[in-house]
Amino acid sequence: MSIYTIERGRAEKRAAVAAWLHGLDLVQPETRERLITAWTTAWTSSTHAAIEDFPYSPMAPDFRLAQHVNEVTRTGLALAQRAEAEWGEKVDPEIFVPILILHDVDKPLLYVRQGGKVEYTPLYRELPHGVAGAMLVRELGFPDPVVATVATHASNAPFHGSTLEAYLLHYADFFATDRALMRAGTEPFYQKHWR
Ligand SMILES: [Fe+2]
Ligand SMILES: [Fe+2]
Repeated sequence: MSIYTIERGRAEKRAAVAAWLHGLDLVQPETRERLITAWTTAWTSSTHAAIEDFPYSPMAPDFRLAQHVNEVTRTGLALAQRAEAEWGEKVDPEIFVPILILHDVDKPLLYVRQGGKVEYTPLYRELPHGVAGAMLVRELGFPDPVVATVATHASNAPFHGSTLEAYLLHYADFFATDRALMRAGTEPFYQKHWR
């Protein structure tokens, strides 16, 4: 089983990734290129023909990962602004923007589309969501806090990181996730504790 192969990709593919991702203008040019390589790698190593085909979750089969990633980036940036205004706590954009953009970079490798449904790939049964993403992010040279936060961000991870960036990602991710679940008729995470 090959998990992924790092792939810079052809110019058209990189241009499609760059046109899709929100927030690339907020990081250094070298970081921007590595963000594009990360998603080009996930795309090229997956079964999906187009970015718009990346599934988000079997719990919301019609929702697009492409939309989720940008919702989380925009929401995370808004939360970071509030954290600074309310509490004087600042994120490092070179850490936080890659965390937002790459938190779900392994999802194209974890799901396939089969007839209107989203199914799990064999990799999903071998590595928890976040782990292959963290490996990829590490291999591309992103800083350790990005690696650790991608590795532990999932709802079923044994614990979540204690940094400001990990905390802000969590709320941005679940804010966006719960809306997608509600629209799909699936119970959102925020209501689970009511039972
Ligand atoms: Fe995730
Ligand atoms: Fe997510």
